[in-house]
Amino acid sequence: MTSAISTAHMAELLRIKQVEEQCSALRSAVICSFNQLLDLKDLNTGVHSTRLAEWGMRVGQELGLSEDELQNLEVAALLHDIGKVGIPDAILRKPARLDADEYALMKKHPEYGWAVLRILPGFERAALDILHHHENYDGKGYPAGLKETEIPVVSRIVSVIDAFDAMVSSRPYRHGLPPEEAVRRLVESSGTQFDPVVVQCFLSFAQAEMAMVFAAAGTSVASAL
Ligand SMILES: [Fe+2]
Repeated sequence: MTSAISTAHMAELLRIKQVEEQCSALRSAVICSFNQLLDLKDLNTGVHSTRLAEWGMRVGQELGLSEDELQNLEVAALLHDIGKVGIPDAILRKPARLDADEYALMKKHPEYGWAVLRILPGFERAALDILHHHENYDGKGYPAGLKETEIPVVSRIVSVIDAFDAMVSSRPYRHGLPPEEAVRRLVESSGTQFDPVVVQCFLSFAQAEMAMVFAAAGTSVASAL
């Protein structure tokens, strides 16, 4: 009898493990699939984005995020701009600064991203983190005008790495900034646009690795801190 129960218990444990592995594989496939969608729309900025997502995860680990939060951070770091697939190409690729109406439409991308991801089981929390990735630490961001710790910690981390990526990446109407200038601007906006703790944590290790990461782009990194 004991042996029969033990066998049944083992079979149940095995079944649960298989389901967990299937869920994990499906989750990875969804992330990969959406990432390819970003590539198709040319919304990834190549080598920078992957490295920045890795740096974001390290910030999360340094700040003591839970395993669940780190999983959401991985999704949010990689897919925070997924909502831009809903923005017209004429705006995304405009070779000049956006006018007020165009900028208003561009500012919809966090809500579009949230709307897409929230319907996927297991991605609800990451969808909320994406919704708030353009909030400012001083409350002057969008879409909700949240401030300081009202902003989810994952969103505060993504905000910093997204802004850094945007500054160093070239756009149709401008070249990307040298990394040392992007670092200077991050520090300048620490406490207003960005969570100062996140900025400090990000730069504490990212600065040391920038020279290697950005060497391929023909840029250099001076001691900007
Ligand atoms: Fe964004």
